[in-house]
Amino acid sequence: MTRSLARSVVCAVATGDAELAEHHRVRRAVFVAEQGIFTGDDLDPHDARDDVRHVVARVGETVVGTVRLFPLDPATGTWQGDRLAVLDRWRTAGAGAPLVRFAVATAAAAGGRRMVAHVQPANQRFFERLGWVAHGAEQYAGHPHVLMTIGLGPSAGDGQAPLLDEPAPQLGG
Ligand SMILES: CC(C)(COP(=O)(O)OP(=O)(O)OC[C@H]1O[C@@H](n2cnc3c(N)ncnc32)[C@H](O)[C@@H]1OP(=O)(O)O)[C@@H](O)C(=O)NCCC(=O)NCCS
Repeated sequence: MTRSLARSVVCAVATGDAELAEHHRVRRAVFVAEQGIFTGDDLDPHDARDDVRHVVARVGETVVGTVRLFPLDPATGTWQGDRLAVLDRWRTAGAGAPLVRFAVATAAAAGGRRMVAHVQPANQRFFERLGWVAHGAEQYAGHPHVLMTIGLGPSAGDGQAPLLDEPAPQLGG
């Protein structure tokens, strides 16, 4: 995969049943078939929320990646981003970073103040390069993860400090 192809990656919130089905197909391919983190499917109650955003990354007509986001704690403006996945053959081509940036921008545009993610240790550096901050190791979905955050919008710096005193959110993944 070449960097020039990556420039054609377009991220958008999935609209319609067909695009949503593509979003879930990618998630199953990565989190069920490839990584075995979930058995059968990776759906959870967040997928049925009215305020969840299911995001797809397309190259032309092909959906190559996903991310999901939703408000976790409206009182503090905290959003969770999860289900970040790029199909194996499309990795390191520049789809994953735009998906993360799109999730961050979408949450910020919706009024969020910070975003949290439970990140697989192998991806901590990937997130740090995108401006995320690590808050330590945790178990999540039965596997080792790192709790990471990023501030959103003009109050970005304020959005991170209190998290260390809060229990790690345990829904999603
Ligand atoms: C993590 C993942 C989404 C990254 O997607 P991707 O499309 O490969 O990412 P990009 O191509 O946009 O990478 C952007 C940059 O980060 C680098 N990078 C990618 N994965 C990395 C990693 N795990 N650690 C460090 N750097 C990484 C790329 O080489 C690229 O570097 P460059 O800008 O110098 O060329 C993808 O590997 C994936 O889907 N993995 C399986 C599912 C998964 O682990 N999901 C995340 C759960 S926390």
